[in-house]
Parts: sequence; C-alpha cells; structure tokens
Amino acid sequence: MPDSKRDPSQLRSARWFAPDDLRSFGHRSRIKQMGFDTPDYQDKPVIGILNTWSDMNTCHTHFRDRAEKVKQGVWQAGGFPMEIPVMTLSETFMKPTSMYYRNLVAMEVEETLRCYPIDGAVLMGGCDKTVPSLIMGATSANVPSIFLPAGVMLKGCWKGETLGSGSDVWKYWAERRAGNLCEDAWSEIEDGIARSPGTCMTMGTAATMMAIAEVLGLSLPGSSSIPAVHSAHSRMASACGRRIVDLAWDQVKPCDILTEQAFDNAITADMALGGSTNAIIHLIAMAGRAGIKLDLERFDEISQKTPVIGNLRPSGKYLMPDFYDAGGLLAAMNRIRDFLHLDCLTVSGASLGENIDGAQVIDEDIIRPLDRPVSASGGTFVLRGNLAPDGCVIKPTAAEARLLKHRGPAVVFSDYKDLKERLNDDDLDISADHIIVLQNAGPIGAPGIPEWGMLPIPDKLLKQGVRDMVRISDSRMSGTSYGTCVLHVAPESAIGGPLALVQTGDYIELDVEARRIHLDVSDEELATRKAQWKAPEVRFQRGYGKLFAEQITQANEGCDFKILHHGPDTPEPEIH
Ligand code: FES
Repeated sequence: MPDSKRDPSQLRSARWFAPDDLRSFGHRSRIKQMGFDTPDYQDKPVIGILNTWSDMNTCHTHFRDRAEKVKQGVWQAGGFPMEIPVMTLSETFMKPTSMYYRNLVAMEVEETLRCYPIDGAVLMGGCDKTVPSLIMGATSANVPSIFLPAGVMLKGCWKGETLGSGSDVWKYWAERRAGNLCEDAWSEIEDGIARSPGTCMTMGTAATMMAIAEVLGLSLPGSSSIPAVHSAHSRMASACGRRIVDLAWDQVKPCDILTEQAFDNAITADMALGGSTNAIIHLIAMAGRAGIKLDLERFDEISQKTPVIGNLRPSGKYLMPDFYDAGGLLAAMNRIRDFLHLDCLTVSGASLGENIDGAQVIDEDIIRPLDRPVSASGGTFVLRGNLAPDGCVIKPTAAEARLLKHRGPAVVFSDYKDLKERLNDDDLDISADHIIVLQNAGPIGAPGIPEWGMLPIPDKLLKQGVRDMVRISDSRMSGTSYGTCVLHVAPESAIGGPLALVQTGDYIELDVEARRIHLDVSDEELATRKAQWKAPEVRFQRGYGKLFAEQITQANEGCDFKILHHGPDTPEPEIH
C-alpha cells in the first residue's frame, strides 16, 4: 500500500505513546525500561504476539521458538513486536475438559487486545480449543489479526505400524480390554504415538480447526497443513510477522474477513475433509462473535452436497503429514473450488480463489478426485426427533454402516460416574443391539460438554468381537474418535431435555439417512416423566463454575457465553 496511507497518528497505539502528557511519558519510559530506544517503536504498529505456549500444553512446545520467528518478521516489516502469554488450553491435561475454559480464554484474548496498545495480533494456537478461543476473542475485539497454526506432530509408529493420535489409542485400548494386547506392547505404543511437538496428526479437532481458520481467511495460504517440526513452519511464522504489520497499517479486521460466505466455505472444508464434529459447535460460536447466525440446518445442507475427498483418519486411511505431502489444504480446496465462494477476502490480501489457484494434488489416494470420493456426501449429519428437538449430530463416515439405521433398547447411565461403575458389571443386561445412553454430560450437566461421547463398549462385548454400537449422549467426542456416536443432543438432559427422560428398556430408532432420532415412548408417558423429573443439584455456588452455568448456551447455539455474543461496540479504553 502507498506510504501516504501509513499515518502513524492513526495507529491505535498512538493513543498510548504519541501525546505530550504525563501518561504517555510513562508509557514511553517503560518501553525504554525494556532496553528499546525511541526508533525501535515510534510510529510503528505494535504487534501483540498472543502465545499459548506452556509446559502444560505438549502440542505447543515449539511456540517459544516460533514466537521469536514471528518477532523477526515483525521487525523486518517495520513493526514493534510484543509477546503476550495467554492461558493455554491443553487438550491432554485440563479437567473436566478444555472446552470448559474455551470461553474464558476467548474473554481473556478479547480484553488483552482491548486493554493494551496493540495495532495487530498474531494468534498462536493449534491444540483443539486454542483455535476457536483465540479467534472468538480477536473477533470480538476486532483488532487486525492473523492466526498462526501450530501444525501437526510427526506420525506415530509401533513395530512398523503407523499410529494416529487418538484414533489408535481408542483402537488399541479396545484390544487391550479385549485381552488381545500385552502390557509390553501397550507400553511400546505409549512410547511411539506422540513423537514431536505439534498437535494430534489425525483429522481431529486441532487439524480441523486449523484448516478452518485458513479457509475462513485468517491464516496465510497453506500454513495450516505444515507439520510443526518442518522448517517451512519457522518460515511461515516469520511470514506471519511480516504480514500482520501490513494488516495493522491497512486496518483489515477479523469482521471484514468473517462473512457469511467465509463461514459457508469453512463448513464446506470441514465436510470435504471429514473434519471433527466439534467444529460445528466452534463455528457456530465463532460466527456468533461476528454477528452471523449459523443454524445446524446450514451444516446439513452443505454436508449433503459436499463429497468427502480427504482420505484421512478417523474417516479414512492417512494422516496429516501425508496430507501435507499430497498438496495439503490448498490442493484440496482447489479440488472443491466449485463448492466455495472464491472471492472471500483473506489475510494474505488476496481472495481465497487467488490463494488456491494452481494448487496441485500430488497423491490422488490421499486427496481423492471428485468422482472417487471417500464418501459422496459430507462427514457430519444433523439429526432431529423427539429425543433431540434442537438437534444432534453424527459422523457417519466414522461409523459402521450397518448401524446407521438401527432400532434397539436403551441401556441408560445417569452420568459418567454411573457409566464407569456399571458398564462392566457382569450382570448388566446388554448386547451389541442395545443402545448405550449417557445423561448429564452436556454443557451444564458435565459441566463443559466434555469429549465423553465415544462411550466405551462393555468389556464382555469387546471379548465377543463387538467394536461398534449405537451410543447417544449430550456430550461431544474427540475429533480423533470413531463409532456410531450420536452427540450434542439438545436440549441437554441437565436442563430437562428429552434425553433426561429415557429409561433403560425404552426403544430408540436411529435413521441417519432420514436424519431422524426417535424415542419410541408416547407423548403422554413422556409428559408424565417430565412432571416427575428433578433437575440435578447446582454444583457450583461461586466462581467460574457459577458464571459458566449461568451463561453457557446449548450445543446447537455454540456453547458461548450469552454476554459474549456479538452486540453493540465495546468502547475503547479511556487513557488517563
Ligand atoms: Fe493437542 Fe490433540 S492433544 S491437539
């Protein structure tokens, strides 16, 4: 852009540094306290590098180094970098679930961007909920931002077998419980499944959300597919630093990029890649921050017309490093370009169409041709019925086909503790045709709608060779999980949704093709049960838990806090 448009007095940070007054003296002198001199920062955009590095987040261990690369790029482009740690969300260690804290981090990000002299931000995330939380916060603050994806870890390996994050953990754990895997083998798998920095390398929630951030237009073209330890990842980090300086000068803000068409593109990409079911909740929440209402039906409409071309686990065969070598997201999006709104703006300064022009698929088995897809229609279906009046979802590509139309008696567990205590009881009357139902595992019930939805199959059935059953809950499941799992049932059981009224022995009908889930109990009987239903006790009387319970919305609404939804502009902070 012409330098004439680069008026330093228009920078947001100029309000802190430019005036000849007492407060600005304090701001300038404290920059000098860090060893910087006036030419280092004066008349330059201040770039906040929001880093979710932490020893507690094993997927982000390379972020200290990458933040230095970002700084290098910012300096090169004439900006002034300032690294700011924000709370990380470790999918591995956080309890009850990282999802419980997504909105807290989004709030932290929004307020961090608002309260400091920041003209542009680089958002460093990757491990599942770090992606939506950073984007939700930056969207609400509406400060020019670029998302830097962590990239995936190396593929796992055990005795020459490729191991995929999550998916192979569930698979081999089932074998261990079935008595088919010894302790030594289990320990060797533990050694070989997570071999480098980076996120899970299946098409789980992290890979899905990083791809979505790029398709939305918030990441540099091609960046989301680069494995974490690839040298291209460091180069991409520097490029993010250079590019955000221009975005700050040009005042290109998240809400300029996050249009309805951009969200349609993101849903299309999610479906075409066989992405995580979690993406639905996050996309609804992210769109909500931009003032865009996404209905579950929009996901189903796009799902029905979008072929799954990413042959990636858990829906397919390959892992994300293979996807990168096969051409990555740019090639995949170029292949489905007729399904996309190509004129959407992106942080590169070019349109999505321009970004993907000419991107070539290198391996046709990993990124399938349109006439030989993994599945003719999308990866996630939305179901409705008297059991889920506000909807629920299933990922049919990760389920056994024979179960997609199924009628069976329910075996009900009132909460996760009950499930753990009784699932492997020898006296439990359960067969492969039963439907396992878990109650009180939703946004308020669990709380935090954790990834419990791939409900375990009883050991005695595993020993008989059963590896999939119909399972229904108001919780989520990991993007790396698989099975005939009906998820996100809304309204949830903890607020008296129909799931709370299911009793062991009730028959449930699942018909995925017809998008139907039906509890075969009369309306009169359900009304009687509802009249007798008692809400679970309120668990938290203070603190974040209380705020969470009061503010959280249901899965079909994105599980954002009501007070954080898009609304009138929040005033800039007074400086005095
Ligand atoms: Fe971090 Fe899976 S645990 S992405």
